[in-house]
Amino acid sequence: PVRAFSATSALNIAVKNVTVVGAGLMGSGIAQVSAAANLNVNLVDTNQKALEKAKKNIEQSIARVAKKKHADDQGAQKKLVDSVLSKVNITTNLRDAVKDSDLIVEAIVENIDVKQKLFAEIEDAASSKALLATNTSSLRLCDIGANLKHKERFGGLHFFNPVPVMKLLEVVRFDPTSDETFESLVQYGKSVGKVTVACKDTPGFIVNRLLVPYSFEAFRLAERGDASMKDIDTAMKLGAGYPMGPFELGDYVGLDTLKFIMDGWSKAHPNDPLFKPCESLDKLVNEGKLGRKSGEGFFKYN
Ligand code: 3HC
Repeated sequence: PVRAFSATSALNIAVKNVTVVGAGLMGSGIAQVSAAANLNVNLVDTNQKALEKAKKNIEQSIARVAKKKHADDQGAQKKLVDSVLSKVNITTNLRDAVKDSDLIVEAIVENIDVKQKLFAEIEDAASSKALLATNTSSLRLCDIGANLKHKERFGGLHFFNPVPVMKLLEVVRFDPTSDETFESLVQYGKSVGKVTVACKDTPGFIVNRLLVPYSFEAFRLAERGDASMKDIDTAMKLGAGYPMGPFELGDYVGLDTLKFIMDGWSKAHPNDPLFKPCESLDKLVNEGKLGRKSGEGFFKYN
């Protein structure tokens, strides 16, 4: 069984200062919910343009939240937007950013070598007490953290897209993760308003392990001509209560992301039918049809 809690919660490391590395969709979402919880946030990326875009996205997203929260009060809306934005500092200087952080969350490209290199640099520059976490959606913590000097400080914080809306946070521990680290990550998750679930270091953790093979089975169903994409989406929305059907969701998270996850798993487990790649998806990705972000995926977008 997954060890969820140790006997005492006095072990918790209180998180006040957070660094999020990677200013993509997930990174900016993690920065946003942390700032909204009144934590001080450094958002780091090597690309200044990506940082500026992330800050714009955060502003737009928090404006949606503010509009909902203070429907008839534009002053209160502006105050909320300004206060969250003022908590997010964008920077390209990783070493400076992590130096005073209690928690560093990595949300960069899904590449083991790049992630290992990043964590080596983080470990070198951060406090020896800082918690280290990855938002990986498909890679193993034992691989990402293989070269860490202090593996006990490392765990997984897997958020879901769109981060400000999705209530779940998977908190992942691998064998070396200490109880103190695990509990502190759970507490951080609660402090940013998420419901946490615990999972071991298994491919896809809970949600992606179920959602990705399900999506691929849907793609194959359409590939065989058994039903249309639209009808499969309608069926899963109205027959199973999912907010989006598998094709709509694939376009929303990015077809390249789905392909990347499955390619990694099928390479590691070539004989497992659960992890079989899908030709129609490969074709779309090769044509640059990646979903909403590129204007076309399974469906076309304006
Ligand atoms: N920021 C802030 N608020 C947002 C937002 C954002 N980016 N996107 C949506 N919202 C808010 C809206 O303001 C709206 O609030 P209201 O209903 O209180 O007015 C609410 O969320 C619903 O939004 P919309 O009305 O625009 O649209 P929908 O009702 O269709 O909801 C959705 C959009 C929340 C994305 C919903 O369709 C959904 O839950 N889809 C499934 C998402 C999902 O499964 N995500 C997981 C993907 S897997 C993953 O992330 C793992 C990774 O590792 C690949």
